[in-house]
Amino acid sequence: MKKKFLSLILGAAMTASMMVAPAMAAEAPIDLTGVDVENAKVGISIYKFDDNFMTLYRTELVRYLTEDLGFKEENITVTDGKNDQAEQTNQINNFITAGVDVMILNLVQSSSAPQVTDLCNEAGIPVVYINRQPEEAESDRWESEGIKATYVGADARQSGTFQGEEILETANGGDINGDGKVSYIMVQGDPENVDAQYRTEFSVKALTDAGVEVEELLLQRGDWDQAKGQQIVQDALTQFGEQIEVVFCNNDAMALGALQSIQAAGRVVNEDIYLVGVDALTDALQNIQDGNMTGTVFNDHISQAQTAVNMAVNYLKGEEVAPINMVDYVKATSENAGDILALLQ
Ligand code: BGC
Repeated sequence: MKKKFLSLILGAAMTASMMVAPAMAAEAPIDLTGVDVENAKVGISIYKFDDNFMTLYRTELVRYLTEDLGFKEENITVTDGKNDQAEQTNQINNFITAGVDVMILNLVQSSSAPQVTDLCNEAGIPVVYINRQPEEAESDRWESEGIKATYVGADARQSGTFQGEEILETANGGDINGDGKVSYIMVQGDPENVDAQYRTEFSVKALTDAGVEVEELLLQRGDWDQAKGQQIVQDALTQFGEQIEVVFCNNDAMALGALQSIQAAGRVVNEDIYLVGVDALTDALQNIQDGNMTGTVFNDHISQAQTAVNMAVNYLKGEEVAPINMVDYVKATSENAGDILALLQ
């Protein structure tokens, strides 16, 4: 099945009518003239395979390369960085030895981008970074020094803002107990990752920008992990009980863990507590439809994967590539969760 750029479809449709267009004219496939599709070798490394969101992302990378563009499966190598930068750097060195034509890299530590970029650049291999954005000084350097490196991602400030807006849009704007302030806990992803930093900051900023008083009861890192999310929220519910009005989670995996603890504690989402995540995992969308989650934000892995591959193809064609390529997030609430689910299936 050919997957389209969902954020474009959803974004355009939602501004028009809050409805999702039933079908869209097919995207023109990227022009492959000048690319040796039969023989081109692509090296892909994911920070760790055991991550729900990155699993969807890597599946789409390979599907789009092979099914839509006709690259040969045997020429695509996907490795598991196992959340270990030294291990991943070894894999990158092996890609160089194997003579891949281009790499798509989801770094374990975005701070290792300068070193990795130099390795690839010296070997003459272009690199497309995904999901974990290197520092601005690094992407500025690619541009000023004409290095063949680029980043494809989504601006996490937008996803944080959307989370905050989803709370503001509830019946009582998040102030369930009517004491004039919104008391929340924040379950954070890996704080080395700007997605975690920005979502944490901008979700709350959306409330304060709207003039709402907030109280942070707890901020704790859950490293994007469902089991950690569950434990953090279980402990927080024991410690703060009814005081907690909002649970912000930097991603859906942790929000699904949070939901298990919320239900185990006998609390009821959208009645006595609100819960928001990011990603739009299928389970999260279903829980939103069933009223068990307040909202999420669609982190469009399909558009991101296709853009990353398109940038790799542009390098193979010898074209210039802009240093930063961003894809939009889409707010996902009970109004459109079903539509997004339908598009993802
Ligand atoms: C996603 C998380 C994922 C992380 C990995 C984020 O953009 O929202 O679910 O764990 O990327 O780096």
